[in-house]
Amino acid sequence: MDRRTFLSHSGRLLAAAGLAPRMFAENRMPESNQRRSLSFSNDWIESVLVSAVRNMPVEDAIVVNLSTTALHYRVGGDHGTVLPWKSAMLRRCTLESGETVALLHVRQRTNLGGVALGWEWYGRRNPQFPRGTPLYISLQDEIGDVQLDPVHGFTHETSVSASPRRYRLKLNLWYTPEETDCGIHTGHQFLEVHTQVLGTGHMQKFRENNSETLYEDVPMLPGFTHDPFFVVGDNGSFSYPWHRYYAETDCIWMAVELHPL
Ligand SMILES: [Fe+2]
Repeated sequence: MDRRTFLSHSGRLLAAAGLAPRMFAENRMPESNQRRSLSFSNDWIESVLVSAVRNMPVEDAIVVNLSTTALHYRVGGDHGTVLPWKSAMLRRCTLESGETVALLHVRQRTNLGGVALGWEWYGRRNPQFPRGTPLYISLQDEIGDVQLDPVHGFTHETSVSASPRRYRLKLNLWYTPEETDCGIHTGHQFLEVHTQVLGTGHMQKFRENNSETLYEDVPMLPGFTHDPFFVVGDNGSFSYPWHRYYAETDCIWMAVELHPL
């Protein structure tokens, strides 16, 4: 074997042994449809996270797009899109391409209130929370870090001075029985939107910390994610109007939170 033949031969051996130059590893596409159960998945709501979505069938689920690019799906010859930080209730579709999605499926409704037995009553973590309000929060699942400009990323408006920054994405479920006022509040230090999973609720805005001053009512039906309530300032800071969640029936909904890093 002459020297050239040997070098060529050894290169093939290296490649066969998985020792090929690093650029091949770095250019490799992430393995598609990597899925894991979310930490709040339970007997009532099956909750799964899928990343690098490619041609993945969905039987029956609320699909939440947890990324800054559109999610594309098809059914027969028809096509559809789920915009970033939005959701859809899909049945017998194929998710063609997308980055990261949460899939939520109602498994059963029997003994629905039992969902909260293993969760935390929100008043335990917030001393100011009304003592008689039955609002319960699940474990929170940290999904990963996302870079986005909050104006463009959520509203799709063109941001004059785009200022992308990094956020940590966290998800959790909430539960409350019917006719529950979950409390008017403001001042979040993170960006939030909510996806309705079960029941009929409302996201509402108020002029003041007073339920008589309501000025916008957003009905929440299963599969729907509301537009963000936060307003972004010139320097990338954000603020919220007084707002609350109101449960008309027994409700389960998912919080999508982006915490600045
Ligand atoms: Fe809020």
